[in-house]
Amino acid sequence: MRYITTPIYYVNDVPHLGHAYTTIIADTLARFYRLQGHETKFLTGTDEHGQKIEEAAKTRNFSPKEYADKVSLEFKKLWDEFEISYDIYARTTDKRHIDFVKAMFLKMWQKGDIYKDEYEGHYCVSCESFFTQSQLVKEVCCPDCGKQTRILKEESYFFKLSKYQDKILQWYEEKDPILPKNKKNELINFIKGGLKDLSITRTSFDWGIKLPKEIKDDKHIIYVWLDALFIYISSLDFQNKGENAKFWPAHVHLVGKDILRFHAIYWVAFLMSVDLPLPKFIAAHGWWTKDGEKMSKSKGNVVKPKEMADTYGLEPLRYFLLKEVPFGNDGDFSEAMLINRVNTELGNEFGNLLSRIIGMSLKYSSGSIKKDRLLEFFSAELEEVKLHLKEGLKFLENLQFNRYLEELFKALSVANLAITKYEPWNLVKNGEKEKANALVALCANILARVNLLLSPALPKSCKRVAEALNYALSPQNYQSLIFNDELLDFEVRAYEALFPRIEKKSVQEEKIAQKEQSPKIKIDDFAKIEIKVAKVLDCQNIKGSEKLLKFELELDNKEKRQVLSGIAKYYEPSELIGKQVCVISNLKKAKIFGHESDGMILSAKSGDKLVLITPEQLVENGSLVG
Ligand code: MSP
Repeated sequence: MRYITTPIYYVNDVPHLGHAYTTIIADTLARFYRLQGHETKFLTGTDEHGQKIEEAAKTRNFSPKEYADKVSLEFKKLWDEFEISYDIYARTTDKRHIDFVKAMFLKMWQKGDIYKDEYEGHYCVSCESFFTQSQLVKEVCCPDCGKQTRILKEESYFFKLSKYQDKILQWYEEKDPILPKNKKNELINFIKGGLKDLSITRTSFDWGIKLPKEIKDDKHIIYVWLDALFIYISSLDFQNKGENAKFWPAHVHLVGKDILRFHAIYWVAFLMSVDLPLPKFIAAHGWWTKDGEKMSKSKGNVVKPKEMADTYGLEPLRYFLLKEVPFGNDGDFSEAMLINRVNTELGNEFGNLLSRIIGMSLKYSSGSIKKDRLLEFFSAELEEVKLHLKEGLKFLENLQFNRYLEELFKALSVANLAITKYEPWNLVKNGEKEKANALVALCANILARVNLLLSPALPKSCKRVAEALNYALSPQNYQSLIFNDELLDFEVRAYEALFPRIEKKSVQEEKIAQKEQSPKIKIDDFAKIEIKVAKVLDCQNIKGSEKLLKFELELDNKEKRQVLSGIAKYYEPSELIGKQVCVISNLKKAKIFGHESDGMILSAKSGDKLVLITPEQLVENGSLVG
């Protein structure tokens, strides 16, 4: 039995590539476990309580629940479009979860692991995390995300985290549960620095789960991380001993490195406190950066997964994310690298092999591939392939996705190289038709095996290969082809080309081309243009126009302006409210579609993509841009 989870995503943000990465890794693993024949449950979902969500909802004029509903649905829609094979979509605003969290809080309280005191220290709303002065960077900033922290002084309930320090270290030692293994030392050092008891309630805002009624304290709500972590169990209907309860403990929690501490320390201590079994593995991946910087909405360098999948295809995107960086390391997202990998690896090695096999089999044997003399001619090649597949499997079990793919592609190379080496067309010419047919059977059997093991990563393409070769991607075939070394005969079918070449000018080339076209202006010309920073107070669609959005902006001295902008295709109006934009403020007024427009909002266009230009940090409204 295998239970696998992604983190549940905060609903203050729309899904970006980082979220898609965790989810695609989890999907690959879940599909792999199912292929191995394990009964599997895969959970993803959204984290909907806390100060960050409450504030995000407020700036957009929504109630927290309305806002959470809207964004949670956006995540779900994306995972459905991406054909993510989750079994459970969990939300922390579900009643079952809320009841479970209260029950667990009460259990910890009754055990004597919770006491009341006062918290005084720093809080990062963005990470929903507490820090002492000495942990901060630049005196006031969060050591994890770099944003400014707030000073909190409020009555709070505390969890006796310090009590579990040695037990957690012992667990690391005995079970080796942290992946990749090198992350364990960071955690050990953190713990050995001394674990402080953890503030687990807040009083200064409302959006969260109330304390259990038995504690009789209405002022407090439960800390969002304690709330969120218990989703992994509440969603199995554990409390009611539902049919999924047997899936606990999780086989693996997948997390980003920024939230490893919450899972490998806090979560483990909470579980120890309520006497529940601990997960088998907690696996932390690195961050995707864009041009070397962590993606974040405020920096405006977020890669939208849907946009990438629409441009290059979902499976090329999956392949790139899994192959480009070793699990645990950071990686820079580059479209040029993605194109390169698709063309050379997926197209040349994988897609081409299928078309060569089909072409040869149709020519030499009317599409019928027989394994008859395969072992006699090509047992050495088969042995080599077996070694690569064995290694590949080991890497996949250990979450080393890039090396798993590397080994599978080495196995494909054995087939491609055999075709180059033995030149089946010459074999046929020289009267060695049986050897030519055995060569086709070798290639088809290699492809069938690789395709099985590749199917968790590229489910759709592999399904098409399986249809073309006319065999099933089933746990039974996984056993017989991979472990029992059985060879198959095939009757090939018509197929569609896999991974056609992506012909696209590199982003760099496009930028240079744009530059060459623009005429030069003098500095005096530029000085005539007044660009100011403005806050979006309101933003709405314009009836009858697919392109236009109507903005109400605030400039200096609270001056309000109405500006129209043709960006409706790229943004939801509600996601812009509260943002700062840059606007040409001394443009002559114009009437567009019957509405007055007093300025022009700046944006940047690249290919099919358009993004608004926003200041890198919050500045006074009306600040001059120059
Ligand atoms: N809500 C918490 C998780 C609670 S789990 C009980 C949370 N949510 S999050 O939406 O902020 O982040 C979810 C995941 O996305 C984290 O694992 C985080 O590491 C990952 N990523 C966010 N930005 C990322 C990149 N730029 N690159 C890769 N993953 C990153 O934390």
